[in-house]
Amino acid sequence: MKKIQIQSSDGPLEICCRDEGNGSPLVFLHAFPLSQRMWDGQLAALAERFRVMTFDWRGFGDSELRGDVFTMEQFADDLRALLDALELDRVTLCGLSMGGYAAFAFMRKYAARVANLILADTRAGEDLAAARQGRLDMARRALTEGAGVIADLMIPRLLAPATIRNHPEINARLRAIIEANDPRAIAAAQAGMAARADATALLEQIRCPALIIVGGEDALTPPSEAKKMFDRLPGAQMAVINGVGHLPNLEAPAEFNRIVTGFLTPEPF
Ligand code: MLT
Repeated sequence: MKKIQIQSSDGPLEICCRDEGNGSPLVFLHAFPLSQRMWDGQLAALAERFRVMTFDWRGFGDSELRGDVFTMEQFADDLRALLDALELDRVTLCGLSMGGYAAFAFMRKYAARVANLILADTRAGEDLAAARQGRLDMARRALTEGAGVIADLMIPRLLAPATIRNHPEINARLRAIIEANDPRAIAAAQAGMAARADATALLEQIRCPALIIVGGEDALTPPSEAKKMFDRLPGAQMAVINGVGHLPNLEAPAEFNRIVTGFLTPEPF
């Protein structure tokens, strides 16, 4: 892990990132309420073929916290500043869930910097009023009750029932990642997600190669949401990983990595 000082739209900010391997750059955008540690199973395996980067969004993991609403546009600006600091012009972006929401904001502002787009377990639509209220309630609980309560609430939504039953080690890893986060970051990200823009119309304007991945048992952003994106995204590919939930990269890392690698390095005819 290294700390990098980026020049974001609201001033200098310290971002914690990992940057390993050689080849075309592949940047992973983590989900809520996790950190770049969710990508451990990608970093080691994929760095054999690509230059793989993971980082903590502002306030999460070991990155500096600033602000009490993390909008997806702010995340996009932070990412642009990180790419500038690393002198990376164009990259493949792989965003999972909240990482996907941030990827949409990045596409809106900085599409020229994206060579390929991977959208995993995310949705293009904005929240309905009840979902928005649910986010604000969770933000309040994070601030008053701490990250442990958020882990209790989120883990059953993030993992497939079979993963919870058969893989206590994944469960424990996920809990450790969530509990290491600052409750203020959890609250700020929920507030930012509640305010995010609808990206449905944006999908039709995306011109780079795109891949949609979804866990077959994803309860938060189910395959029906992935299919809606697929139907609107010109020329996209879609892969369903059966038997796993919202975090296929953690629940089925070998399959997830195989799909990503296949998309980025197609077999020649
Ligand atoms: C995530 O996995 O990033 C979140 O569950 C997304 C969300 O709450 O919409």
